[in-house]
Amino acid sequence: MAQRTVVVMPGDGIGQVVLPEAVRVLEAAGFEADWVSADIGWELWRSEGNPLPQRTIDLIAEHKVALFGAITSKPKEAAAAELDPALRDRGHVYYSPIVGLRQRFDLDVSIRPCVTFPGNPLNFIRRTGDGGFEEPRVNAVIFRQNTEGLYAGVEWTNPPDNVWQALDSHPRFAAFRGVPREDLAVSTRIFTRAKCRRICEEAFAYAARHGFSSVTVCEKPNVIRETSGMMLAEGRRVKQRYPDIQLWDTNIDAQMMWLTKNPEDYGVVVAGNMFGDIISDGFAGLVGGLGFAASANIGADVGVFEPTHGSAPKYAELDPSIVNPIAMILSAVMMLDWLGEGEIAGRVRGAVADVVAEGAVRTYDMLKLRGGPQAIAQGAATTTEMTDAIIAKLT
Ligand code: NAI
Ligand code: MG
Repeated sequence: MAQRTVVVMPGDGIGQVVLPEAVRVLEAAGFEADWVSADIGWELWRSEGNPLPQRTIDLIAEHKVALFGAITSKPKEAAAAELDPALRDRGHVYYSPIVGLRQRFDLDVSIRPCVTFPGNPLNFIRRTGDGGFEEPRVNAVIFRQNTEGLYAGVEWTNPPDNVWQALDSHPRFAAFRGVPREDLAVSTRIFTRAKCRRICEEAFAYAARHGFSSVTVCEKPNVIRETSGMMLAEGRRVKQRYPDIQLWDTNIDAQMMWLTKNPEDYGVVVAGNMFGDIISDGFAGLVGGLGFAASANIGADVGVFEPTHGSAPKYAELDPSIVNPIAMILSAVMMLDWLGEGEIAGRVRGAVADVVAEGAVRTYDMLKLRGGPQAIAQGAATTTEMTDAIIAKLT
């Protein structure tokens, strides 16, 4: 069989640090692949005026599977100011390359597991009536619609005539009719039935495969009636095929409260793009935060796997690096599962769990220290030491 090729896109900042660590772990675990590096991120914007060059798109189209580290994004003016002078005033407009990748390859299903590793000092705890505390085990997997909704980018300030007229045809627009047009901003929230159905189908199929007893559709259908209503309707339709799995529906606001009270009650959670982004960060905060938050972006035949953290520029130049490589490693483990390498995935996950449970090697975030070079003298492991510890636990 031809050797598998994986496209690796370290990107910016700590992406450059954590991605090679994940590759090191996978190789030590016996996963064999050709790793092809591809350009993405801020440096490409500055030098080429495009943070997602066509050659990178071509490589992903060819090989179908990629690991992504992180990129740096900056606001409009900062982006324009950092562009190579030779490229200025040529109409280059910065657009987040990871959002661009999701749209270009229709990576419409984002999967974000938030799972407690026993022994992690960052785990959620709850005070009990007798003054003690308990540490419920969280095992929530967020299915976020990844391409539509409020992040689709259909928006205006000072909307043009035809948009204004379309808005004005809605009776409820009467409340805005008197607003000066340049003082009115509109970001549309577009859902399609096909994408709502697909995220719900993927969520239920995952729940069935992994033995979850419930799928929660988390939206706000009592207020956002059309879009949230469509997601819930599709959830109910898909549920018909899964008599053994309960369908719960919650509102995003109440869900954020409940997940800090009884997070252990939730299993698979489905939501549109923005609410999925919010809920997944909410659950991630209960199981270790950014250093532990892994994710997958899945399309019909392409998968891109990435930690949910960004490029953490303030730690990017530290040598030795202190950031936690676990989120990136767990994202690479999700890639192994997707590629059908469940046995290797299980061993890497087990090794991470063992290191966390043992507690001898902890990065600064796990020790609740302030980040910086001093953290090492205060007992924090370096990025490399954490990776080495995980590799040492591989069986
Ligand atoms: P960030 O995730 O880069 O960092 C926030 C803070 O979280 C860091 O300062 C650090 O304290 C901590 N942190 C992040 N990753 C960690 C790790 N692996 N181990 C230990 N601690 C970690 O978010 P921030 O500061 O808001 O954004 C920095 C840059 O990253 C911005 O340019 C932003 O646009 C970009 N970004 C990119 C993302 C992506 O590539 N998918 C996602 C989020 C932000
Ligand atoms: Mg987010």
